[in-house]
Amino acid sequence: MNKRDWIFIGIILAVFGTFFLISGKEKTVKMPKDTTHQQFYDLRKSGVDKIKVDALCPACHDGIKIAFPPNHPAKPGGAPMRCLFCHKLES
Ligand code: HEC
Ligand code: HEC
Repeated sequence: MNKRDWIFIGIILAVFGTFFLISGKEKTVKMPKDTTHQQFYDLRKSGVDKIKVDALCPACHDGIKIAFPPNHPAKPGGAPMRCLFCHKLES
């Protein structure tokens, strides 16, 4: 084992570590597949852009009608919130 072998091992570990972190974030609660949200599943299925569907969520999820958890990473009122970037569809 020389220095270059160790650097190589370090890079491999960093790559796997990153995958591990990303897969942890994948556990964010998914958009429920209920009567309220079925319409958005249908829009996505018919090819409507994710960003266009995101824009429909704050009609209810505006932080007032439905509150966000206090530590919610996206805040209403600022940049458009990419809900479906974090809240994936149920399969
Ligand atoms: C017509 C009103 C309405 C719209 C529009 C709406 N939601 Fe909801 N959403 C609700 C209600 C009510 C709840 C809480 C009850 C429930 O779980 O259905 C909820 C809950 C949720 C939850 C939490 C589920 C859980 O397990 O705690 C997520 C995630 C969510 N919505 C995502 C979205 C996304 C993404 C959009 C836009 C594509 C969206 N919602 C649009 C009414 C709405
Ligand atoms: C940057 C990622 C991100 C974005 C963007 C985002 N969320 Fe969330 N959301 C989260 C995380 C993380 C939680 C914490 C709950 C969990 O463990 O999933 C959460 C929680 C929620 C909850 C509460 C779920 C529960 O069961 O308590 C609702 C409802 C919700 N988000 C709706 C939305 C809606 C609607 C949008 C778009 C307007 C949105 N989120 C945008 C990451 C995000």
